[in-house]
Amino acid sequence: MDRDRLDLSPDEMRTLGYRVVDLLVDHFANGEDEPLGEAPSREELEARLREDLPEEGSPPDAVLDQVEENVLPNTMRVDHPRFFGFVPGPNNFIGVLADLLASGFNIFSGTWISGAAAAQIELVVIDWLRELCGLPETTGGLFTSGGSMANVTALAAARHASLDDDVTGAVAYCSDQTHTSVDRALRLLGFRPDQLRRVPSDDRYRLDPSALRDAVAADRAAGRCPFCVIANAGTTNTGAVDPLPALADLADAEDLWLHVDGAYGAPSVICERGQKRLDGIERVDSLTMDPHKWLFQPFEIGGVLVRNAHHLRRAFRLEAEYLEDAVGEADEINFSAYGIQLTRSFRALKLWMTFKVFGRRHVATAVERGFEHAERAERLLRERPEWTVVTPAQMGIVTFRCEPEGWPSDRVDTLTRRLVSAMNENGEAFLTQTTLDGRPVLRLCPINPRTEAASLQNTIDRLEAIRGALSEAP
Ligand SMILES: Cc1ncc(COP(=O)(O)O)c(C=O)c1O
Repeated sequence: MDRDRLDLSPDEMRTLGYRVVDLLVDHFANGEDEPLGEAPSREELEARLREDLPEEGSPPDAVLDQVEENVLPNTMRVDHPRFFGFVPGPNNFIGVLADLLASGFNIFSGTWISGAAAAQIELVVIDWLRELCGLPETTGGLFTSGGSMANVTALAAARHASLDDDVTGAVAYCSDQTHTSVDRALRLLGFRPDQLRRVPSDDRYRLDPSALRDAVAADRAAGRCPFCVIANAGTTNTGAVDPLPALADLADAEDLWLHVDGAYGAPSVICERGQKRLDGIERVDSLTMDPHKWLFQPFEIGGVLVRNAHHLRRAFRLEAEYLEDAVGEADEINFSAYGIQLTRSFRALKLWMTFKVFGRRHVATAVERGFEHAERAERLLRERPEWTVVTPAQMGIVTFRCEPEGWPSDRVDTLTRRLVSAMNENGEAFLTQTTLDGRPVLRLCPINPRTEAASLQNTIDRLEAIRGALSEAP
C-alpha cells in the first residue's frame, strides 16, 4: 500500500477496524467489571508517552497496542456505571457508531452545499428538542462542541438582539451557583467581570427573584442597563433549578433576555420527572441543553436553542467571497451562519440515530433511572445516623456529609475531603466534592442508566467503612 497517500489496504482497514470494534464492544459489555481507570501523575505519563515525533511509521497494530496499554487505562472511564463524579458521560454504542460514520465520511456540517442531509437532520433533531421543551416554531438552534460553546453562542445572540453589540453599561444577572462557563462567555463577548451580577441564591441554591428584582432596580437607578438574566435548569453543584416561571415574569416585566443554562438538566425534560421540575422552560429566550450530558451521547455535542432563530442568524451571519457558492436557497440552512464554527462535524447524527434506535420512550426511561438512583442514594443516606443530606436528590444529584455527633465543623470538613480521596484511591467508585456555603460536601451524580442499585448501596457502604477506618487512624 502507498503510505505516501496515507493508505491502508482494505484488509488492513478491516482487521484494524474489527479490533477497534471488539475493544469497544468489550468496553460496553463489561460495564461494571471494568476498572474505573486512573489519573496517573504527569511524571508517570511523561515516562510512558513522551517521545520524539516519529520520522518513520510503525505497524498500526503496534500503535493500537500502545493505546490499549498506555492510553485507555490512564483515563477515567466517565461512562463507567460507578463513576458518580462531576457530570458523568454515559454514552451509548449507537452514538459511538454514528460518530465513527460522521468522521469516517468526514461530513461537513457547516453549509448546505457540502452537507445537505446533515443540515436537514440537524434541523429535525433541533426541532425534536424544541418540541420537548414546548418552545414555539420560531425557535432555531444548533449543536455545538458543548455547554460552554452553547452558552457563548446564546449570549452572543442576546448581546446582539438586546444591545446591538454595545456592551457599555450593560449588566447581566445570575445566581452564585452559575457555571463558570457563563463568566467566560461574557468575558469573551467583551463584558468586564463587574458586568455580571452574581445574585446570592436562596436556601435551596436557587436564584431568588426578589433579590434579582432589587439588583435590577439598583442598576437602573445607577444609570446602568440591565439586559439579561441567566438562570439555571440544573446547577452543576446540586442540580437546583431556578424558579423559571417567576424569572420569566420578571424578565418580561423588565424587558430582559432570559437565557437558561440547562446544559446538564434541560435534557431531562424528556421524562416526566424532568418535565415537572422544568416548568417554565418553554418561556426562555435561549437555552443551553447538552446531549453529551444527560442524553447519553459521546462528547462533543452541546446544544443551543433560541426562541427567535433570527436572533442567532443576525448575531452570526457574515458574508465571505470564498463562500459565495455556499449561500443556496433561502430555506437551505447553512449552520455556519448560526454559530461560531464554519467547519463543523456532523454531531446531530449521533442523537438522531440514538432516538431512532431506542425511541423517545427508552431514552426517557434511561433519564428517569438517574432521578431514581439519586433518590435511592438519598434514602440510603438518610437511614444512616451520622450522615446528613445537604441537598436532596434533584436532577440526579445528591450532596451530603458525614457529621459524627459532637464533631466541630472543621473536623467534619477534613473528614469530607478524606472520604473523597480515600474512596477514589480505592478505585471501586468515583465521586467528587463541591463547596456549599463555604463548606465541602460530598456529591453523587448517578445518572448512568447502566448503574445497578446494588452498586449505589455498595458505594455508600464503602464510604461508611472508610469513615470507620479513618476515625480509627491516628
Ligand atoms: C450547568 C453547566 N453549564 C455549562 C457547562 C459547560 O459545559 P461543557 O463542559 O460541555 O462545555 C456545564 C458542565 O458541566 C454545566 O454543568
